[in-house]
Amino acid sequence: MSLVDEHGNPHSTDNRDALVAWERALDLFQTFNEDPYPLVDAALEADPDFVMGHCFHAAGKLMGTDGRNRPAIAERMETLNGLAPRANDRERGHIAALNAWFRTDWPGTQACYDLVLAAYPLDVFALYAAHFVDFLQGDTRQIRDRIARVLPFWDATLPGYSFITGMDAFVLEEDGDYPRAEERGLYAWDTDNRDAWAVHAVAHVYEMEGRLQDGLDWMNRTWDHWKDGIFAVHNTWHTTLLHVELGDYAQALDLYDSVMFRPTDNYVSEMRDCASLLWRLTLFEVDVTGRWDRLLPFWQDRIDDGVFAFSDMHAMMALAACGDEDGQKTLLTKLETVAQGKDSNAFATRAVGLPVCRGIQAFAQERYSDAVAALTPVRYATRVLGGSHAQRDVIDLTLLEAALAAGNRAMAQALAAERIARRPASPLNRAYMARVGM
Ligand SMILES: [Fe+2]
Repeated sequence: MSLVDEHGNPHSTDNRDALVAWERALDLFQTFNEDPYPLVDAALEADPDFVMGHCFHAAGKLMGTDGRNRPAIAERMETLNGLAPRANDRERGHIAALNAWFRTDWPGTQACYDLVLAAYPLDVFALYAAHFVDFLQGDTRQIRDRIARVLPFWDATLPGYSFITGMDAFVLEEDGDYPRAEERGLYAWDTDNRDAWAVHAVAHVYEMEGRLQDGLDWMNRTWDHWKDGIFAVHNTWHTTLLHVELGDYAQALDLYDSVMFRPTDNYVSEMRDCASLLWRLTLFEVDVTGRWDRLLPFWQDRIDDGVFAFSDMHAMMALAACGDEDGQKTLLTKLETVAQGKDSNAFATRAVGLPVCRGIQAFAQERYSDAVAALTPVRYATRVLGGSHAQRDVIDLTLLEAALAAGNRAMAQALAAERIARRPASPLNRAYMARVGM
């Protein structure tokens, strides 16, 4: 039995209701705004063996980068592996990718999705899932090439084309192609105002170009379209970065309190954004009274996670800022064990995650020369942590503040000079130049 979806991808189901619900779920998923899960569940209700519905749940949980999701993913993988013998080749490719992802074999996951996308370049879910795994590894060439390989097969007559354009905008931005990224992102959003990912891509462009007022105007203009959606915290985090760059810390904190800090959501990505903003403000000696303490329990609960080095870095920010020495010790001990492993996260932890955590801890303990010593050797390798340039900039900021606090003027000057060369219009970078006496 087989049906073909609106993008020409075959499914091993004969249940049309399941397929229609799946197509609608994918549409919502691509908005990064509206919740697709009720429709995924509707597809599974119509056909409990609907393979892509189970794939969606497994990939969604893996994208959550939350160690607490492991049992639920294991259960879902058992279901998927049971369905594999009667799945079609494309679906089996998805299942193989998810098995590799569950083993934290990110290159293996990419290889499986590569095969799926080579045969089915309009497989939207494979594209997004693989894009996320690319993002975990932070390789800008890889993340850009992924979309480039399938773009010739897409055109504006296909459902969801503008979302692919918005996705392209983000990868172009990460690869430093800002004018094209802006153009593609604006096209995507103008075509479909639900597209919170396109809003996000354009926000990245304005941040990286130092066009701070353009960025604020853009976020304000689009705000009504994403403020209640599932990407509201991350997009608001981008808005706060613009305020921080302008030195308007009160606005940043107001947005933190009113939009960003949503502990009941229990999403690791949201709590990373919270820690990232508070750490920046702490670096700049802004009074964030009580906010670290309220964020701390979330990260204390995940000290034992060991699933994503990029998260561990944010856990250390909270533990160190609050002076939770037992927590810091437990985290570092855990990471030393993780680093001895062989999977993709073990590599990232060993190469960069541990030194960055030690640098953050040293900074919080006012051992500034130790922070400089820990962060300097890995400063050009931080991409292996995953995340975006904007997210990883917090490491560069920590190093620069550590160099200043350690009285290492020559290094602070060098780092400030690098920043101003990249973003001459940034008030923050200009302030650094003044602070280092250049
Ligand atoms: Fe972002």
